[in-house]
Amino acid sequence: MEKKFITTPIYYINDVPHLGHAYTSIAADVWARQKRGEGSEVFFLTGTDEHGAKIAQAADKSGKEPKKFADEISKKFENLTKMLNISNDAFIRTTDPRHEKYVSDFLQGLYDGGYVYKKSYEGLYCVGCEKYLTEKELVEGKCPDHDKVPEKQSEENWFFKLSEFRSKVERLIESDEIEVKPLSRKNEILGKIKQGLDDVSISRKSVEWGIPVPWDKEQTVYVWIDALLNYLSATEIFSKKDFWPPTVHVVGRDILWFHAVIWPAILLAAEKDLPKKIFVNGYFTVDGKKMSKTVGNVIDPVELVKKYGVDTVRYYVLRDFPFGEDGDVAIERLEQRLNGDLAGGLGNLVQRVLSLIKQNDLNLNSTKPQPSGKAKAIKKLTEEFKFQEALIEIWKLVADTNKQIADSEPWKLAKEGKKQELADFLQKTLHCVLEIADLVLPYLPETADEIFKQAKSLDLKPIFEKMN
Ligand code: MSP
Repeated sequence: MEKKFITTPIYYINDVPHLGHAYTSIAADVWARQKRGEGSEVFFLTGTDEHGAKIAQAADKSGKEPKKFADEISKKFENLTKMLNISNDAFIRTTDPRHEKYVSDFLQGLYDGGYVYKKSYEGLYCVGCEKYLTEKELVEGKCPDHDKVPEKQSEENWFFKLSEFRSKVERLIESDEIEVKPLSRKNEILGKIKQGLDDVSISRKSVEWGIPVPWDKEQTVYVWIDALLNYLSATEIFSKKDFWPPTVHVVGRDILWFHAVIWPAILLAAEKDLPKKIFVNGYFTVDGKKMSKTVGNVIDPVELVKKYGVDTVRYYVLRDFPFGEDGDVAIERLEQRLNGDLAGGLGNLVQRVLSLIKQNDLNLNSTKPQPSGKAKAIKKLTEEFKFQEALIEIWKLVADTNKQIADSEPWKLAKEGKKQELADFLQKTLHCVLEIADLVLPYLPETADEIFKQAKSLDLKPIFEKMN
C-alpha cells in the first residue's frame, strides 16, 4: 500500500479558532479521505503550536500559567477538528515533552554539524508575526498584518546558516522536486529567494516560554523552528517514521516562506528527505478585511457548524473559492449554497429516487457501478486540490440526474403500471446517485454516509459492502 503523509500547519494558540483555521483543515481532510478511499495508507497530522512570546503574553493577559492556558486552547482546536469531522490520525502539541526532547536533540545535531553560530542582532520585531521585519515590509512604520509598530530588539542569538542553502533550495523549487502549488506562489517564492537569503536566528534570549537551547540554557528555541519540527517529531512520537517524507504540506500563504525556504534548508542540513509538495491556500476575509479579533469580524466555525451542519460549512468554503486564492466570506452565500445546491439539488435528488424505489417496492440490481470516466476525472481534480472545480463537476451530475427525472416523469410510469420500464429507469438513476455519493464522500462525509445508509435500508446489500 502506498504511504501518504499530509499535514496542516499547527495552529497558534494565542487566538481562538476561526474559519481561516478551519479552511486549511477541511482542505487537507478532503485530500486525506480521498487517498484513503483509493487504498493509500494515510498519516494525516494536525496539532497546536504552543510556545513563544505571543502565547506567554496571551496567557498572562488571561491570568493563567502558560501551560494551563495552552492546555485549554489546544483543546479548543482539537474540538474544532472533531466538530469539522476532520479525519486526522494524530494531533501533536509542541509542549509534548517528547516533541521538546526531539527539538532539543535536533538542534544539537545542527550545532554539532557546524550550521549554527552566535551573532548579535538588532531589528524590528513584530510579536504578532513572531519575526523580525525589514523596513521595506512596513507600511507607515507599522506591520501591515498586525497594524502595530514593531519593537526594536537587540539580542545575541544563535543563527542558522540559511544563506549556504540558497542555490540548493532555489533549484529544488524551480525543478519541482519540491512542488510549490499553485504556480503563482511558486513564482512568488522564487522571486523572494532570488533577492538573497540571510542567515536566520533560531533562538531567543528574551523569550522564556520555549524549549531551552541545549548548549545555551539562557536561550530558547525560536518558535518557528520548534513548530516546523513538529512534522518530524510527530513521525517518531506516533510511530510513523516510515511515512517520511511528507507527501504534502497544506499551508496558508502567510507561512510559505517558512515552509518553502527555511524548512527545506534545515532538512538539508540534517540530511533528511524533503517534502514533495507544498500546497498554498489563500486567505479568507470578511467584507474585504482580514479576520481578526481587533476588527471584531472573526467567524466562529463552531457556531456555523451548530447552526448549519458540518457538511454545509465544508461545502461552502471549498465550493465558493478556488483553493489557493483569497476569498471574501459571506453567510448569505453559505445559506444560498445550503438551500440551493445541498437541499434543493442533492437532497432533493436523493429523496426523489429513494422514495420512488420504496413506494414501488422495486427489486433492483444492486451492484456498484464501475467508476465512469467522468468520476475518475473528478477524483483527479480532488487529488490536485482543485476542489471548486471538482464540486462544480459533481453538481453537474446532480443537475443532469435531476433533469433526467423531470424529463422522464417516472411517476407516470408508476401510475400506468409500467413496472419494468420504471425499474430500468430507477436502476440507472440509483447508480447515478451512488456514484455521486461516492464522489462527495471526501467533501461531505456525513451526507454521503446518510445516503448510503438510506439506500442500505432498501436492502440492496452488495452496493454498500464497501462502506462498512
Ligand atoms: N503556528 C503557525 C504554523 C506553524 S506550522 C509549522 C501558524 N499558525 S496560525 O494558527 O496562525 O495559522 C494556521 C493556518 O491557518 C495557516 O496556514 C494560516 O495561513 C491559516 N489561516 C489563518 N488565518 C487565515 C485566514 N483568515 N484565511 C485562511 N487561512 C488562514 O501560522
